[in-house]
Amino acid sequence: MSGASDNILEISGLNTSYGRIPMLRDVGLVIPKGQVCCVLGANGAGKTTLVKAILNMIKADKGAMSLDGEKIDAWPTHKRVERGIALSASAVGTFHKMTVDANLRMGAYYINNEKLLSERLSEIYKSFPVLRLRLNQKAGTLSGGERTMLAIARAVVNHPKLLILDEPSLGLAPIMVEAVFDIIRSLRAKRMSILLVEQNSVKALSVATTGYVIQKGAIVFSGSAAALSDSEYVENPVM
Ligand SMILES: Nc1ncnc2c1ncn2[C@@H]1O[C@H](COP(=O)(O)OP(=O)(O)OP(=O)(O)O)[C@@H](O)[C@H]1O
Ligand SMILES: [Mg+2]
Repeated sequence: MSGASDNILEISGLNTSYGRIPMLRDVGLVIPKGQVCCVLGANGAGKTTLVKAILNMIKADKGAMSLDGEKIDAWPTHKRVERGIALSASAVGTFHKMTVDANLRMGAYYINNEKLLSERLSEIYKSFPVLRLRLNQKAGTLSGGERTMLAIARAVVNHPKLLILDEPSLGLAPIMVEAVFDIIRSLRAKRMSILLVEQNSVKALSVATTGYVIQKGAIVFSGSAAALSDSEYVENPVM
């Protein structure tokens, strides 16, 4: 069935493999509209594999997926992107030789209305002042934190239905981690639906409403962010 749903994304029974080696096993996940859902897990647990499967960058062996109530299993990657799934990941590089402004315009290439494009760009420069200061600077010369901001901005410029952030805090200094999470908070305030993949569980749970834990390709916990914070999967600092 297609049609609007309370959930922006629904996944059930998802299995993937690398060659003959199974990776994701019977993964089920639901992201309610307008909320931040986090997926926590150690190195190699299968988080990026899940992200890639959502974009059909890795084929599912089995399972069903829907976006805003519409079945998307047969949709190729470009259609999923066009229909509103945006990925920001350090692995998905920005274009180093191009300026910040040109990178944002590349990100917005589905917007073919000049007026809307300039509105969206000014909105981005308002939300990401650090990028406005550097709009003519080549992306390759940005700091790691600034480049993370650019990668997020490039996804946000399209007003995606679902924004996927794969480890946005990876490798950043604490002050930049704060800045990135401030951005996530401001997107949450605008009711953007976000899938946040993180190893930094304390930070992720500070912005998420719901959360999942993935271990060796399987979901071992799902529930509210509060329940996850209290669970054995998150080490809370001793008060
Ligand atoms: N193209 C591939 N071919 C074979 N194995 C792969 C491939 N990509 C990933 N893997 C393996 O699948 C497992 C899960 O990888 P994945 O990238 O999903 O982990 P992750 O949870 O994102 O980890 P990290 O936190 O380090 O990014 C790892 O053991 C990885 O080595
Ligand atoms: Mg990963």
